[in-house]
Amino acid sequence: MISSRIAGFHNLSRAGRLEKLVELGLLSEREAAELALEAGPLAELADNLSENVIGAVAVPLGVATNLTVDGQDVLVAMATEESSVIAAVSNGARACRELGGVFTEADDPCMIAQVQITGLADLAAAKAQVESLAGEIGKLCDACDPMLVKLGGGFRDLEVRICGPFLVVHLIVDVRDAMGANAVNTMAEALAPKLEGWTGGKVGLRILSNLADRRLVRARAVWRAEEIGADMVRGIVSAYEFAAHDPYRAATHNKGIMNGISAVALATGNDTRALEAGAHAFAATKGNAGGYGPLSRYGMTEDGDLWGEIELPMAVGIVGGATRAHPTAQKALKIMGITRGERLGRITAAVGLIQNFSALRALAGEGIQRGHMGLHARNVAIVAGAKGADIERIAKLMIERLEIREDVARALLDEG
Ligand code: MEV
Repeated sequence: MISSRIAGFHNLSRAGRLEKLVELGLLSEREAAELALEAGPLAELADNLSENVIGAVAVPLGVATNLTVDGQDVLVAMATEESSVIAAVSNGARACRELGGVFTEADDPCMIAQVQITGLADLAAAKAQVESLAGEIGKLCDACDPMLVKLGGGFRDLEVRICGPFLVVHLIVDVRDAMGANAVNTMAEALAPKLEGWTGGKVGLRILSNLADRRLVRARAVWRAEEIGADMVRGIVSAYEFAAHDPYRAATHNKGIMNGISAVALATGNDTRALEAGAHAFAATKGNAGGYGPLSRYGMTEDGDLWGEIELPMAVGIVGGATRAHPTAQKALKIMGITRGERLGRITAAVGLIQNFSALRALAGEGIQRGHMGLHARNVAIVAGAKGADIERIAKLMIERLEIREDVARALLDEG
């Protein structure tokens, strides 16, 4: 039994922490050496981005091809450990290229900060009072971030809600090219004492909402029946209807969408969890019966082609946080030619839609396992110790035998 109480662990260097784990018998010397980061800017960045760092997890960074978004081609950087994700986007994008690719619309990049006020006897009166102070509240918010105001952003709107026993004040702030969490959290915290003074209540939480429904992006594409087949058009519409009727299916449908969205977010240093939380909260009312449902919809055009569209909150930015600090994120943005946060949001939503189309196309057709298993077999071969040309050879043999397992891969490697 080890004790998780290690006094001063956070004060140790990266090497010191690894040594400690060796000392505790949790890692061998060799494993610790394999985890150790080479000295340099990335190692320094890891120390600055997180705490108690011992190493870094490398996730493959790939580039999806064939995408056209709003008439402009883009090569999309995606970071994902999941096989088939990037190939699926590239294939789905090729299939709608002829009709112009994906077309998008984006709301202004407005985030919501929430301030919870407790201990109020007359909630309706307090609500009216806070609403009457919108002008002053706006000025106080803007004073927190003159640079944002200079860039054309800043306070936009006030919303006051009665939520159970609490008054909840929403500050709606245009955060321009940022994800915006820092900007709006600062405003919420700065405003808190004023709200207490005005209402006589006590402020509780002061934090952004990840249900960023003032910052929606919509994307739409059409796939020709000639290209994908009339049966496939019907199959995908039926797959969508399944998700619209059934939250169990909708969760998986949306997971496929997030395969693409989170991969772009991770590649560009954005907060994948914020996007996931926002997407699923937004989906919570999209089902046919009003409950959880799919973020995308599909139907047939008058010409018998397939149209698909998606709408979801898109809290992504290109300034601040890991996006600015991480050299890989900077290169990802460069590959994509991104100079504005809004363009990143539009491309990310387009990737979500196409990712979803490709998953449904596979599911409504031969299923995902055949394509997936090819890639999975390579992973299994690698885990079993295959190197170089052996990876492909062992993967092929396992697929032929319909036995994709580590023990089989090991046996095949031993056979030579
Ligand atoms: C797997 O990561 C994603 C899918 O399950 C999505 C879907 O079912 O729509 C294939």
